Amino acid sequence: MTTLTFPDGFLWGAATAGHQIEGGNVNSDWWPREVAPGTDIPEPSGDAADSYHRYREDITLLAEAGLDTYRFSLEWSRIEPEEGMVSRAALDHYRRVIDCCHELGVNAAVTIYHFTTPRWFADDGGWRNPASVDRFARFVEIVLPLLHSASHVFTINEPNILAMIFAGKEGNQQIQAGALPEPDAVVTEHIIAAHHRAVELVRTTGRPVGWPVAPQQFFADPGAEEVLRAYAYPRETIFLEASRGDDFIGVQAYTRTRITLDGPLPAPDDVEQTLTGWEYYPPAIAEAARLAHDITGLPVFVSENGIATADDARRIDYTRGALQALHAEIAAGLPMIGYLHWSLLDNYEWGSYAPTFGLIAWDRETFARRPKPSLAWLGGVAKANAVEV
Ligand code: NOJ
Repeated sequence: MTTLTFPDGFLWGAATAGHQIEGGNVNSDWWPREVAPGTDIPEPSGDAADSYHRYREDITLLAEAGLDTYRFSLEWSRIEPEEGMVSRAALDHYRRVIDCCHELGVNAAVTIYHFTTPRWFADDGGWRNPASVDRFARFVEIVLPLLHSASHVFTINEPNILAMIFAGKEGNQQIQAGALPEPDAVVTEHIIAAHHRAVELVRTTGRPVGWPVAPQQFFADPGAEEVLRAYAYPRETIFLEASRGDDFIGVQAYTRTRITLDGPLPAPDDVEQTLTGWEYYPPAIAEAARLAHDITGLPVFVSENGIATADDARRIDYTRGALQALHAEIAAGLPMIGYLHWSLLDNYEWGSYAPTFGLIAWDRETFARRPKPSLAWLGGVAKANAVEV
């Protein structure tokens, strides 16, 4: 057994996102799609994990396990349910979540926007509308007072996936599992402009700011190297290049995608697959971190990494493998701020509750929390600032 020790001050935590855990997110663009008659979304988000009310219990479990950082997102549709109408009550809510983190000795790493927008924004063209940039900047101004006490601020979650979703594919799951449309160019331009406006605004708080990009990892079948070159023109490069002036780069990765002569394909049958149908591939996050750092020159913050599985022992194996690969990159000189596991809780995986990514399970009727052994395991890693491999 070898002990791999992480740098002093390395942050250890877990991440969530509003729509995936809070419940009752009725003013969001996702909600009407989930409940529309004949929708192709298998399951609506409904009450989710009711973390809107149970956040104290969730953050307490994180803190008691030994983790020191909680990444969560602000829900734009709660804060600005109609254009220009600000909900003071929703702002107060997120103020309480941040205060709760601090009372429990936990850093609040805040994502300003994680995939869901208010309905009014989506109904008026979403990110295709040139007004989206000003609309987002106005939202950032509204939430700016909250950000003063964030440890780190993430502007827009996975801009490269967001731009692909707008390119016509529904749902994150399909995209990471295979079919990879070209990002929508207009949407890309608006998202990058919105990010730059947000960075400028957040800078006034003095808090470190960046965004989490999801660099996809590809590998080619024999003979498909040409196709790989076409695909591996990394779709995220444009977003990584746009990050150069930021304070850090967030990195999120889970798997790798196989490229055949027919293009990208879901994981083949002869490899271990997770509940999202992705290949079990723990080094993905370290490869993504290296790519992101090489392009941006920035310190990397692993803002998401994890596995959808019903077998919690396998979750621990996966995470151990990911940490081992990350440690090797750190040893090779890659500056890294911390590691945030996806996810603190089992949550709404954009259409279904079946892929369970959580360190904590909960009862679908009573919402009672049931921490899994992986929570204590990761907490132990955090307390030791080291992993045994
Ligand atoms: C990326 C997204 O940020 C998050 O919303 C999603 O649940 C996880 N990865 C897993 O797919």
